[in-house]
Amino acid sequence: MLPLACIFFFFAICLLMIEFVKLQRRRKELPPGPTPLPFIGCLWQLNFFQLNREILAKLAKSYGDVYTLWFGPSPVIILHGFQAVKEGLTTHPEDVSGRPVPPFFRALANNKGILLSTGNTWKHQRRFSLMTLKSLGLGKRSLEYQIQEEARHLVVTFRETKGKPTSPSFALTLAVSNVICAVVFGHRFSTKDETIHQLLEAMDPIFKIGGSAAQFMYDVFPWMMQHLPGLHKKALTARDFVCSFIEREVAKHRDAGVPDEPKDFIDFYLAQMEKTKGYPKPAYDERNMIQSIFDLFLGGTETSSTNLCWALLYMVVYPDIQAKVQKEIDTVMAPGQMICYEDRKKLPYTNAVIHEAQRFSNIIAVGLPRLCVKDTVIRQYHLKRGSVIFPNMASALHDPNEWDTPLLFNPQHFLDKDGHFICPEAFIPFSLGHRVCLGENLAKTEMFLFFANLLQSFTFHLAEGTKDINLEPVLGGTLQPHYFEICAIPR
Ligand code: HEM
Repeated sequence: MLPLACIFFFFAICLLMIEFVKLQRRRKELPPGPTPLPFIGCLWQLNFFQLNREILAKLAKSYGDVYTLWFGPSPVIILHGFQAVKEGLTTHPEDVSGRPVPPFFRALANNKGILLSTGNTWKHQRRFSLMTLKSLGLGKRSLEYQIQEEARHLVVTFRETKGKPTSPSFALTLAVSNVICAVVFGHRFSTKDETIHQLLEAMDPIFKIGGSAAQFMYDVFPWMMQHLPGLHKKALTARDFVCSFIEREVAKHRDAGVPDEPKDFIDFYLAQMEKTKGYPKPAYDERNMIQSIFDLFLGGTETSSTNLCWALLYMVVYPDIQAKVQKEIDTVMAPGQMICYEDRKKLPYTNAVIHEAQRFSNIIAVGLPRLCVKDTVIRQYHLKRGSVIFPNMASALHDPNEWDTPLLFNPQHFLDKDGHFICPEAFIPFSLGHRVCLGENLAKTEMFLFFANLLQSFTFHLAEGTKDINLEPVLGGTLQPHYFEICAIPR
C-alpha cells in the first residue's frame, strides 16, 4: 500500500513541477506580474477572489500599470490607472472589442445578445439595439417625458412614507426599471404589481455571482458545477425566470401583430426578423431578441438605481452638501416646477454632486473583461489574439494622478474655480471604446432627473437612533451599499 501512495505522491509532485515550468515559460510572453502557481494561479495573492482596490493598487506599484494576474490557469492583463485604461481601450479599439465567453458566461447567455456576446453576433445586436433605442426616443425629449413621469411617481411613493424610516432601494429600482420596461415592453409596472417584485428579486443572484468563487469554480470545472447547488444555480434559475417573462411578452406582441408604427423594442425586433427572414445567415432571431432584451433590462435596472441609492446615502451622511443642492434648486427653479435635463446647465452644483456620487461609489468596481479579437499592442506589450483584458475602472475613478482628493466625497472634482460644471476626462464609469455602455445617456438623464426632483421635494435624514452608517460596499457584480433606512421629510 505504502509504495503505491509513494508512487502517486511522486507523480503528483512531478505533475506540479511540469505545470510550474510551463507556466513560467508562458509568463515570459506576457506583461510582468506575481508568480502564478499551478492550477490556482495568483488567487492566493488576491486573498482568493478579493479583487479589491487596495490589492490591485499594490500590485500595480510593484509591476507597473499593465500587469498580468493568473486566475487559476488563465492569464488576465490588468490595466491600472486612467492612462493605462484609456490607452488600452482606445488606441486600437477594434482589437479589444471582444468579450471572453468562459463556461459561466456561455451558460448565462450562450453568446447571444449584447452584453456577454462577441464577434458578429455582438456587432449586429449592438448596432440594431442602439438604432432602435434612438428611434424610441433615446436622447430626445419624448423619452425624457417618460423619465419625468417616473420621477413624479417616485415623489408620490416617498410622500406616502410620511417621513417614516424606509429603505429607498425598491422605489428607486422600480422607477429606473420602469423606464426601460416602457421602452422594451411598451408598459410600466405599478408598485403593487407582484410580477415586477419577482423580476427585480431575480436580478439579485445574477448580480451577486459577478466575480464570485462560484463563477470561478464554474469556469474551471463546468462539468462538476453543473451538478452542484450554489449561487451559480440560483443565478441560472433567475435567468430562466426573467427570460420566460420576456418570452410571454414577445408572444403577446406577436398575437397583437406588429403595428405599422412600431411602438417598443419588441415591435422593432419582430419587424426586423420578418425583414431578414430569408437571409442565408439571419442575425436576428428569437434567442438573440430575448437575450438582448434581458441585457437591456439587466443593464438598465440595477446600475442606475444603485448609484441613486449611494447618492441618497451620501446626502444623509453629508447634510451640508444636501442643503447646498437644495439651495441651488430653490434659487433657480420655481416652487414645484418639474426639473428637466436641460436644467442641469443652471444647476452645476447639483450636477456635480450626482457625478461625484457615481465616481465615489464606483459601482462597477473593476469593470467587465474584454477579449483581444486580433493580435494587438498595449504600451510596449504585444498581446496575442484571445488575450483577456481587465480595464480596472475603479483605478481610473480613484486615480490619485487625476483627482485632487480621490478617496473623499468631494463635488469640487466636477466644478471649476468659478463654480461651472466640468467633467474630467478620467470620469469613465461607463467605460470607453467600442463596447462603451449602451445606456450611458439614458442612465445620466435618469440619475440627474430622479436625484434633482427628489431633493427638490424632500430633505433626507437618517432614521432616529441610527448611529453607524457603513459606507463600505457589499462586494458582488456591482458594489451595493449595506441595507439602510432613511426618512424623506417633505419640504
Ligand atoms: C449608472 C448606470 C450604468 C453604468 C455605471 C453602466 C456601466 C457599464 C459598463 C462599465 C459597461 C461595460 C462596458 C465594457 O465592456 O467596457 C456597460 C455595458 C452595457 N450597459 Fe451599462 N451602465 C449603466 C447603465 C445602463 C443602462 C441604463 C443600460 C440600458 C439601456 C445599460 C446597458 C448596457 C449594455 C447593453 C451593455 C453592453 C454593451 C456591450 O457589451 O457592447 N447600461 N455598462
